[in-house]
Amino acid sequence: MNFLSNALKFTDKHSRITVLVKVLESQVTKEIDAENTEMYISLQLSILDTGVGISQEGLSNLFIDFGKLEEGSSRNRQGTGLGLSICKNIIERMGGSVSVKSTLGKGTEFKVIFKTKCRVTPDYFE
Ligand SMILES: Nc1ncnc2c1ncn2[C@@H]1O[C@H](COP(=O)(O)OP(=O)(O)O)[C@@H](O)[C@H]1O
Ligand SMILES: [Mg+2]
Repeated sequence: MNFLSNALKFTDKHSRITVLVKVLESQVTKEIDAENTEMYISLQLSILDTGVGISQEGLSNLFIDFGKLEEGSSRNRQGTGLGLSICKNIIERMGGSVSVKSTLGKGTEFKVIFKTKCRVTPDYFE
């Protein structure tokens, strides 16, 4: 996932990267058999890092094609600047959303919300 590779790319040795997954909503769509239930779930992924961060101006150019930010220590790191615009596009086509909060020098938090179908076993309901 591009969000994770960015988090790795734009942090240094002693940074911390956190990935949180939260189920926001869930709805049973089909009882497949005794062991399997099909569900529709709304997932929230948070990808947080304590890396180089992004400036206010950078945030407004973030999701643009080839938008590599020419700032601070995020310069000179390899990449095309396409990852985020492609990710955002795909997630929005799935009916989801992407948001970002960041402070230069402190770190970045990307939040992705989308719905997906999945299959769960009875322990999910315990
Ligand atoms: N977690 C992050 N921390 C700091 N800057 C980031 C982070 N994620 C993305 N960026 C900035 O956004 C730009 C665009 O990201 P992306 O579209 O994935 O392109 P790429 O990874 O190819 O550079 C990056 O070049 C970088 O400047
Ligand atoms: Mg990338």
